[in-house]
Amino acid sequence: MESTNGAATLTVYVRRQEKPDATPAWEIFEVPHRPAMTVHMALLEIQARPRTADGNVTAPVAWEANCLEEVCGACTMVINGRVRQACTALVDRLEKPIRIEPMSKFPVVRDLVVDRSRMFEQMKQVKAWIPIDGTHALGPGPRYSQEEQERVYPLSRCMSCGCCLEACPQYGPGTPFVGAAALNWVRRFDAHPTGALNKGERLETVMGPGGVTDCGSAQLCAMVCPKEIPLLESIAVVARDTTIHAIKRWFGGE
Ligand code: SF4
Ligand code: SF4
Ligand code: FES
Repeated sequence: MESTNGAATLTVYVRRQEKPDATPAWEIFEVPHRPAMTVHMALLEIQARPRTADGNVTAPVAWEANCLEEVCGACTMVINGRVRQACTALVDRLEKPIRIEPMSKFPVVRDLVVDRSRMFEQMKQVKAWIPIDGTHALGPGPRYSQEEQERVYPLSRCMSCGCCLEACPQYGPGTPFVGAAALNWVRRFDAHPTGALNKGERLETVMGPGGVTDCGSAQLCAMVCPKEIPLLESIAVVARDTTIHAIKRWFGGE
């Protein structure tokens, strides 16, 4: 942290990209340091005074944010080489200068904004929901005990941030692998008593190419998940369930 005229400043490198097909380039900013400052707050400072460290006026940096409390996942980006949320990354705990980049596994829209639609398409692919709508009243679903709710709750904390996909060596634009988040959604909705009614259908979506067998067990997904979801356990459960499902299907049981 430097000091200019008695006021502490931070040096922040931001990887800029004007549009999806533009060549990225780094810009350096000097940002006034504030108490309890997060990377999101540093970006707000740059937005208020978009001038590089060498005095050139530039376009304000584009990034996304919504909840500001690590719940929506919108502000996910790569900070000092590690994927995380800008709204909870305290600058005082980061090595300086701070380097901020967009996630690399999704197409860049502008600067730090990426298009995560692939992840939302995967949510549809694995049927990450419980079908409760019908043209008539479906009646009460199966009972759901407090113990079951508590067991499944950790799996439901996923905020679709994409950290696990950014860290995964098997996931990327050129590979069909659905990734850890989608496999956890399969486990989470299969574990619900009503969701279990569509378990076989859901398992079918991750049995072919790009499914659970494409996981290389590198375990990096679990290390970066900000919600500490037991992703490796979810992958193992889905792998086991798909095997059982395949055997039952083979013998005509499902
Ligand atoms: S265990 Fe490794 S290969 Fe499998 S989803 Fe996680 S990071 Fe990717
Ligand atoms: S599983 Fe964790 S890292 Fe992956 S999208 Fe969900 S919250 Fe983010
Ligand atoms: S703004 Fe929602 S997680 Fe950061």
